[in-house]
Amino acid sequence: MKIERFPAEHERNTGITLSLADVGFDLEGKTILDGVSFEISATRIGIVGRNGSGKSTLARLLAGLVSPTKGELKINGLDLAKDRKAALAEVGILFQNPDHQIIFPTVQEEISFGLQQQGRSKRDAADRTAATLSEFEKSHWTTAHINALSQGQKHLVCMMAVVAMEPKLIILDEPFTGLDLPTKTQLKRYLSRYQGGLVHISHDPVDLLNYEKVIWLDQGQLISLGDAAPILNDYIEKMKRLGGLDDISDLSR
Ligand SMILES: Nc1ncnc2c1ncn2[C@@H]1O[C@H](COP(=O)(O)OP(=O)(O)OP(=O)(O)O)[C@@H](O)[C@H]1O
Ligand SMILES: [Mg+2]
Repeated sequence: MKIERFPAEHERNTGITLSLADVGFDLEGKTILDGVSFEISATRIGIVGRNGSGKSTLARLLAGLVSPTKGELKINGLDLAKDRKAALAEVGILFQNPDHQIIFPTVQEEISFGLQQQGRSKRDAADRTAATLSEFEKSHWTTAHINALSQGQKHLVCMMAVVAMEPKLIILDEPFTGLDLPTKTQLKRYLSRYQGGLVHISHDPVDLLNYEKVIWLDQGQLISLGDAAPILNDYIEKMKRLGGLDDISDLSR
């Protein structure tokens, strides 16, 4: 499969600059990310890489949820791990696993929480929550108990909670996992209209076709970064070669 770059669906003005200088991250004595350096300005950035390559870890670092063990990481010149107030306005993150994200029992409470954290009144947060649910045609979920939703539905609640806050940048860690086709199509349409920046982690290169730049990670290191089409083509070729081998276990390293 050869991928050609499509023209971007929308011209956007709100570029995001990610600056990483020799970023490393260790956890429990293990090096998860090592010597990652790049500077990139774009509104649509994809991240690809095999299982365990460090994508979700990089997502958490970008969102400022954890600090690098080594090096420096900034978004639009801000160190979000140090400036949590700025982080709320700048970045929203959709976790890979909705169970790591959800705190509240009902859909309404879950979506309103982030809005109130941003400083909105309870009333404002409730209005914005209602508008978001309506936009996704899920108003009937308002009082639903999240525990009673399917995994895909939980994922969508998390997504709505993030987009309701309208951050300048949304980091999406496998946002389409578990979503049925119509919901995925609806969400794709919504994201293509989103005025802020997106950093989108995906195993499926097709999801990143319209993206401007792609970052490829492997074993905690930057393999390459650049225009989406050539990076995705190289990535697909490499993954096909690896798929032909019998031992692709990332535990073997
Ligand atoms: N809490 C943790 N404790 C120890 N090691 C961890 C922890 N979380 C992640 N790792 C390790 O860090 C590495 C990178 O994990 P990460 O979740 O960032 O990868 P990923 O690229 O998002 O993978 P996937 O595609 O499977 O989602 C893996 O080798 C993983 O085993
Ligand atoms: Mg991951």
